[in-house]
Amino acid sequence: MGWWCTWGFCLGLCLLLTVTQPPSFPSCLGCLCPDHHTVNCSGQGLTGVPDSIPLDVRRLLLSNNWIPWIPSDFLVLYTDLVYLDLRNNSLSQLEPGTLSTSSRLVFLDLGNNNLTEIPSGTFGESRSLIKLRLGDNPYLTMVSRDVFTGLTSLRELELERNGLTGLDVRVLELLPSLNMVRLEGNPWLCNCHFAKLFVWLTNNQHKLPTGLEGIDCTLPLDGRRVPLSLLSEDSFRPCHRILTLADYLIVIFSGICVSVAAIMASFFLASTVHCFQRLSKISKGDEGEGND
Ligand SMILES: *[C@@H]1O[C@H](CO)[C@@H](O)[C@H](O)[C@H]1NC(C)=O
Ligand SMILES: *[C@@H]1O[C@H](CO)[C@@H](O)[C@H](O)[C@H]1NC(C)=O
Ligand SMILES: *[C@@H]1O[C@H](CO)[C@@H](O)[C@H](O)[C@H]1NC(C)=O
Repeated sequence: MGWWCTWGFCLGLCLLLTVTQPPSFPSCLGCLCPDHHTVNCSGQGLTGVPDSIPLDVRRLLLSNNWIPWIPSDFLVLYTDLVYLDLRNNSLSQLEPGTLSTSSRLVFLDLGNNNLTEIPSGTFGESRSLIKLRLGDNPYLTMVSRDVFTGLTSLRELELERNGLTGLDVRVLELLPSLNMVRLEGNPWLCNCHFAKLFVWLTNNQHKLPTGLEGIDCTLPLDGRRVPLSLLSEDSFRPCHRILTLADYLIVIFSGICVSVAAIMASFFLASTVHCFQRLSKISKGDEGEGND
């Protein structure tokens, strides 16, 4: 009888414990899952992306880890993913297409990593993307001209404190919904390549949280750093006079054409003169014969 009591008590206790335990999802190993659609593995010392994440995850937080790369098929499975935070990891490159499969993605944070370039095709046509954070990647020096084409909903783009010295203005021009862009803290170089970007920035100052005065650039002549607010379109005026390689080729080619034409004209003139001289000699000879 006593034995049965003990056993029953244990069973009850076990049942009680099971019921009162907070809901735990089998695939939430070591991470926090505050609700059925959020997996928070922030600051877990991860050295790779976890591989047992629920397929219906909508918010995935992986910030403050040591993740060095994302497998190119990582996002293929998570078609409901809306929010992906990879801030403060060790990402140094993104395989093309890795992020292009996530058609519902609205928020993407790749800030505070070690990215060196954003090659074309990185984001594919993520038409839902509204906020893209790429700041604080100190070695990021190359943003491909067409990498953001197709991001028709993108409203906020962060590229602050990277290693950019220049940026093709089409990167920004092709974003129809853009209303905020951060570009401060880059080693911008105010050379002739910067002229078009400068015009765009001047016309879109309201999209810059720090304004033109918050963005510095290096002057090519004396290496001084000045805020963009101290420059004007006139500062880039000398650039309009600089000839491109095509201009030089046209000049050289025209020069050659003119020279050839001049030489041919001289030959023509010379032979004409020669002909006339011979003709006049012949006619003189005729006259002489006639006189005899
Ligand atoms: C994610 O978890 C970290 C602690 O691990 C916490 O500081 C942070 O607020 C959590 N974020 C969200 C959005 O729940
Ligand atoms: C980045 O993550 C590391 C590791 O979790 C942490 O020690 C560090 O404070 C984080 N840095 C920032 C700027 O959040
Ligand atoms: C970041 O990248 C730079 C240059 O590519 C490299 O020298 C450095 O070691 C990297 N740092 C980390 C933490 O991976």
